[in-house]
Parts: sequence; C-alpha cells; structure tokens
Amino acid sequence: MSAPAPVRPPAANAATISANGKAPAAAGKSAGMPISVRGLSKRFGERTILNDVSLDVTPGETVALIGPSGGGKSTLLRCLNGLNTFEAGEIQVGQHNLTPGDTHNGKSAALQQVRRSLGMVFQDFQLFPHMTALENVMEAPVRVANVDSTAAAERGRKLLDRVGLGERADFYPRQLSGGQKQRVAIARALAMDPQGLLCDEITSALDPELKCEVLEVLEDLRREGMTILMVTHEIGFARRAADRVVVLADGKIIENGPPSQVIDAPTTDRTRQFLSRVLG
Ligand SMILES: Nc1ncnc2c1ncn2[C@@H]1O[C@H](COP(=O)(O)OP(=O)(O)O)[C@@H](O)[C@H]1O
Ligand SMILES: [Mg+2]
Repeated sequence: MSAPAPVRPPAANAATISANGKAPAAAGKSAGMPISVRGLSKRFGERTILNDVSLDVTPGETVALIGPSGGGKSTLLRCLNGLNTFEAGEIQVGQHNLTPGDTHNGKSAALQQVRRSLGMVFQDFQLFPHMTALENVMEAPVRVANVDSTAAAERGRKLLDRVGLGERADFYPRQLSGGQKQRVAIARALAMDPQGLLCDEITSALDPELKCEVLEVLEDLRREGMTILMVTHEIGFARRAADRVVVLADGKIIENGPPSQVIDAPTTDRTRQFLSRVLG
C-alpha cells in the first residue's frame, strides 16, 4: 500500500492569528483543560522536594518551566501525571482532582482520568524498541482504550503525518534519528487525545539541528490550541514560544511571568545566576 504524502498540520494563516500569535480558540479545536496545582508538597524520605507549590496553566497556554537541576521540575510533572505521590496539596486537571490519598491507589478513577487528560513526553523518548513507530503510537489506544486496531492504525498514521513522519510509520526506533524518535513519542502522547501535554526536557538529548524539528512540532501544537507545560533549558525557545515562564528552584516557584519579564528582568538573584549559567 502506498503511504500518503506526509501532511503537515495546516499552519494557522496570518488572518486567523490573534495578537498572541495563536489561532483563536474558536478555530474548531478544543482549547484543553485548565491545570491547577494548589499548595503541593512532596517529600522523598526526609527531604522536601516540592514545598507548597501553586501553579495554574490556562487552556491553550504554553508554560515553560525552568530552573536549576534538582529543583523539582521533573517531580512536579510526575505528580501532575500521577507518576509520583504527594503529601499535601491538590492537583486539578479539568474537572478531575488528585489529592494525596488518591495517588497512592493506581486504580483510582481520578488518576486514570488525569493520565488520559495529560500526555507526557520524556527526554529519553521511552519508545518500545520492538515496535514500529506506528505500533508505538497505536499501543495505548488499543490496549488502554480498547480502540479497534484498524481504526487505531488509521489514526496513528494521521498522527505520524502530523509530526512529519508519515513515511516512517513502519520504521523501528533504532532506524530513526533522535529527533524522529521524539516526534514519534509526541505522536504517541497525542494518540490518547490529551487535553494537555507535559514535556520533560524533550530536546535535551538531541543534537542542536534535531532540536529544531521537535520544537517546531510543539509550536504547531501550540498554534492549534494545545495546553503545554514544558520543562526546558531552551531559553531562546521559551522566550519566543512560551506564554509564561516559571522558575522552580529548591522546590519553590521563585518567578512566574511573561518571558520578557522573567528572562530579561528576573527579580531574584537565584534566577539571574541560573540564567547566566544556561545562557553561557
Ligand atoms: N525517586 C526518587 N527518590 C529519591 N529522591 C528523588 C527521587 N526522584 C527525584 N529525587 C530527588 O528530588 C530532587 C528533585 O529532582 P527532580 O525533580 O528530578 O529535579 P529536576 O527535574 O528539577 O532536575 C533531586 O534532589 C532528586 O535527587
Ligand atoms: Mg528533571
């Protein structure tokens, strides 16, 4: 069977782009769910890793989460997706709530709903090596959501087209570049129709020229109205493509504002030190 030519997502044309550079929410795509974190505290043993963290991400917003290594960024994303338990606070994703009690039970309905609502993409791709790109993308819909495999394959090919990999559907991860693997991982995260995407340093393992192709996919998703919370060290990308930048250091949010403010005029020495290190 001849694969259709890869179709890039239709870039929002100039006439439909609003002042913030995004297509208006009325463009037909769901604007996603709000994410709200209130008073979140998380310990590993005696150590407090997240200390009374509160954060809101509004539907359609792209938030870049930056900060020094070990500050708790990955832990926060993992709490949001129910991969980590937490001791205090509350997480709300759309109408679903996670509380300290819920997250200890992997079968809780709220936890399952939250996991379905938020797709997650990791630095190291986490693709199944023995499955093709298409099989990786189809896996969760078929296994978790009981989607019929013909329908899942059709949708999977569309998603691979959307990330520019329609012609690589039948390739195994070892036959793909790092940037291509990460784009498969994004397509896989989209396969469950998430209302938001959590990205944990998804370009950190990639060569500079491969970072761009992954970041371009995120920019396309942003234009389409996806809610995105991304941990990144790409300060240039955060400045250009994030609606808001949040700095997490030593388990606390120390800055939260538009990129121009946080990156160009930070209010804390800690942020200045961090930025001068990553910006070289
Ligand atoms: N499973 C774990 N057990 C114990 N300590 C952990 C675990 N995961 C993370 N930590 C610790 O929590 C702190 C924050 O880690 P992390 O959230 O990965 O930070 P970041 O992503 O900002 O670099 C680090 O000191 C790390 O060692
Ligand atoms: Mg991390």
